[in-house]
Amino acid sequence: MGSGGREHALVRALGGSGWTVFAAPGNPGMAADADVRPIAMNDHAALVALATDEGIDLVVVGPEAPLVAGLADDLRAAGAAVLGPSKAAAQLEGSKAFAKEVMLAAGVPTGRSETVTNVDEGMRAVAEFGLPVAVKADGLAAGKGVVIAQSEAEAREALQSMLDQGVFGDAGRTVVVEEGLTGPEVSLLAISDGTAVARFPAARDYKPIGEGNTGPNTGGMGSVSPVPDIPDHLADMLVDEVHRPVIAEMARRGIPFSGVLYAGIMMTPGGPKVLEFNVRFGDPETQALLPRVGGDLGEILLAAASGGLADQPVPMTPQASVAVVLAAANYPGDPRTGDVITGIDQAQATGAEVFQAGTALNAAGDLVTNGGRVLAVQALGDTVEDAREAAYAAAALIHFDGQQMRRDIAAGMAS
Ligand code: AMP
Ligand code: GLY
Repeated sequence: MGSGGREHALVRALGGSGWTVFAAPGNPGMAADADVRPIAMNDHAALVALATDEGIDLVVVGPEAPLVAGLADDLRAAGAAVLGPSKAAAQLEGSKAFAKEVMLAAGVPTGRSETVTNVDEGMRAVAEFGLPVAVKADGLAAGKGVVIAQSEAEAREALQSMLDQGVFGDAGRTVVVEEGLTGPEVSLLAISDGTAVARFPAARDYKPIGEGNTGPNTGGMGSVSPVPDIPDHLADMLVDEVHRPVIAEMARRGIPFSGVLYAGIMMTPGGPKVLEFNVRFGDPETQALLPRVGGDLGEILLAAASGGLADQPVPMTPQASVAVVLAAANYPGDPRTGDVITGIDQAQATGAEVFQAGTALNAAGDLVTNGGRVLAVQALGDTVEDAREAAYAAAALIHFDGQQMRRDIAAGMAS
């Protein structure tokens, strides 16, 4: 369930290992890989009916908003096997204050923080932590709820916009102020059935729109896996320090976490610190990770959904994978729509995968841009550099007016 590049990658990985796949609401790119049903993500009754009417063996919920809204609970109540946490467990992403509280209880390393509900309290926390400081809307804000303030004035402005002006609505009525941290970031995703943990190798995404990580943040302009500075033995240690204690703490509270637990971790000079949890596959990390899976992804996800997941890393091929996002004109502002897209077949003929996200068919039947992140072009290689070259060679065959692409995804990594 979902309509983005992450879901397209899921559809293709599941279809590729022989599953019959339905996608709701899906996107035009998925029509080649799945039976697409245009059901809105907030229409839980219709989504539940699809799962029961079609006798679906496994439902994978892609995005966070429906999980936080309780879609997994509604599906489970109707007897479906679901990969995705309950509404209660999805609070790990739905509330940064809750995530902090769980991390504190579980002894998981994270930045010092204060949860505040008015500007004065917020400014006292800013004074305590010093600058720069992170000001984070508590709730879901479509990836836009974090401001790294370099001055007291910026911190105050961020606090006022969230707490007084309500720019994120209820999601910003509570704010987490966190000490500023520095270091390389890693996305570490693990599947759990509530007890066992099956991690993926480390991945990295590139959030700012501009090369050299400049400019405003986006949903992610590209991704890579593996991450040479986070080898598997380090990923195992991080899972022991982060994912396992959180999953144990959630079970202890009677709200077991089953689904994908994605930890965004910063490798600071003082050790790893968790910046955030997501309760679902990352986008665009998934577009790089899933083509590396070395077994039947569906069997693993089904085991997580039904209980009995093997407590071992997800089997992966040793290949490297890079995904490059092609974004629409004006993104991450209000993206321009309706630009005709060409060259996808040529790109795929090179062996690359093209995952669609912000696309639509116009009245003439042309594939056109219809969102900020339009496509992700992914390729495998023996090394990160090989994968990167292959992804960029394929991306060069795709055209649409106003296209934006970072040329430095996965650049300069030893491997
Ligand atoms: P989050 O949604 O919490 O992952 O934050 C989005 C991005 O903001 C992260 O990927 C980091 O690049 C940055 N960020 C979050 N928290 C901090 C922090 N405490 N110090 C510095 N940068 C941060
Ligand atoms: N790649 C960041 C996210 O999925 O939230």
